[in-house]
Amino acid sequence: MSFTIAIDGPAAAGKGTISRAVAAHYGFAHLDTGLLYRAVGARHLAGADPVEAARTLTAADLEAGNLRTPDVAQAASKVAAIPEVRAALVDFQRAFARRAGGAVLDGRDIGTVICPEAEAKLFVIASPEVRAERRYRELREKGVETDFATVLEDVKERDARDMGRADAPLRPADDAVELDTSHLSIDEAVATAIAAVDQAMKER
Ligand code: DC
Repeated sequence: MSFTIAIDGPAAAGKGTISRAVAAHYGFAHLDTGLLYRAVGARHLAGADPVEAARTLTAADLEAGNLRTPDVAQAASKVAAIPEVRAALVDFQRAFARRAGGAVLDGRDIGTVICPEAEAKLFVIASPEVRAERRYRELREKGVETDFATVLEDVKERDARDMGRADAPLRPADDAVELDTSHLSIDEAVATAIAAVDQAMKER
């Protein structure tokens, strides 16, 4: 049996944390699809053609140590607007979604394009200021020198590009449950997500 949970939303809304917790709760596998685009972005920054990089992506690319930096995030958002890059990554994501035992995929277009038939869909949002504050703290904890205004600018720039692109733009699927984490603790956000998935499981 397969059961797919699609979790989409903008940068730093809490998708990653919620997705990992939801996957652990149900014993499902988890795929952070942003990592695919980050790996392509990183290879592009190193000089590779983005389409070629997407077509030849390997597990080792996904394990590269430098994928969580602001530069790679911006590069990921740019290569993600190229239709051939997105097309090259579709089959892998769909196969992952349909693996036996259940899967959680988080990204921007999981509920709309990759898995429109997903059994449960969440769209996780938070205000740009709250998201930038979270990302700023994360970066500081990792020792990255930055300031809040730069991070906020970065978040807004990425939102605009991810929502404005022609191919698979960031938007909620019509049947997605919206989860605003702006004023929720991590535990509250995870509990709300699990309640929504439980409901979807009951309705099947
Ligand atoms: O989730 P993230 O911040 O790691 O994603 C990095 C970039 O990759 C994001 O700005 C847009 C792109 N992306 C995408 O276009 N589609 C996805 N399913 C996941 C990420």
